[in-house]
Amino acid sequence: MARTILVTGGGTGIGRAIARHFAAEGERVIVTGRRPGPLKEAAAEIGVGTAICDHTDPAALTRLLDDLPASIDVLVNNAGGNIAFDADGRTDLASYARDFRANLDANLVSAALTTKAVEDRLAAGGAVVHIGSIAAEQAAGSYGAAKAGLANWNIDLAHALGRRGITANVVAPGYIADTEFFRDQLPDERRKQLVAATATGRAGVPSDIAGTVAFLASPAARHITGQVLHVNGGARATR
Ligand SMILES: NC(=O)c1ccc[n+]([C@@H]2O[C@H](COP(=O)([O-])OP(=O)(O)OC[C@H]3O[C@@H](n4cnc5c(N)ncnc54)[C@H](OP(=O)(O)O)[C@@H]3O)[C@@H](O)[C@H]2O)c1
Repeated sequence: MARTILVTGGGTGIGRAIARHFAAEGERVIVTGRRPGPLKEAAAEIGVGTAICDHTDPAALTRLLDDLPASIDVLVNNAGGNIAFDADGRTDLASYARDFRANLDANLVSAALTTKAVEDRLAAGGAVVHIGSIAAEQAAGSYGAAKAGLANWNIDLAHALGRRGITANVVAPGYIADTEFFRDQLPDERRKQLVAATATGRAGVPSDIAGTVAFLASPAARHITGQVLHVNGGARATR
């Protein structure tokens, strides 16, 4: 029987690839985002259901529940990104506070709120997968702090859901090309450095992340929980 998969921020980039992967496996997929355009494109391309939602907004999440089925097998908290790319350049303390909080909201609070909103609907034997980042392991300002916080909070979540047979894990990508993440602000020199840092000699692509998320949601991964799985081509090694 088809599973129900909710992919936040699934209109573009990594989220779209995750949605495409699950849809190709015959699962029932719902993707969310704030802009109608990318969601319409995703629906046209892969035949997924869509719902508008800002995952940092509790009221929007409460409204989203009306559009969701009573049971969800897999929640993918993918919505996020580095708000620093959208900052207006102001450096006064109030602006710093706004931008810092915006990154925490976009990458940490959004995942916690979304999980809380649908927690009662998560099916036994299901999975929650968050998209973290290699940025959690290195100097990366409020964005890195938010993704590091996400990995820590996930440990608590894994314990809260474990007795229901639901796993909770983080997939932490390195540099992934072909998404809207960097806007148009990734200089060619920096892109070359990111690729040169890998052992594989190539940029990651969204399907690399989709395959890993699908594995963590699969029967083969039922005893993997509370973990961070790094998908970065060896750009940063773990033991
Ligand atoms: N690309 C990389 O190199 C890389 C590396 C490490 C981690 N990541 C992480 O991977 C995830 C996906 O990023 P991506 O690279 O695929 O970039 P992307 O193309 O910009 O995708 C982000 C998606 O999230 C949605 N989104 C953002 N904030 C949202 C909110 N508050 N509520 C609902 N939807 C929201 C965006 O749509 P709307 O703007 O329409 O809402 C967009 O579809 C992010 O969590 C990012 O931090 C990316």
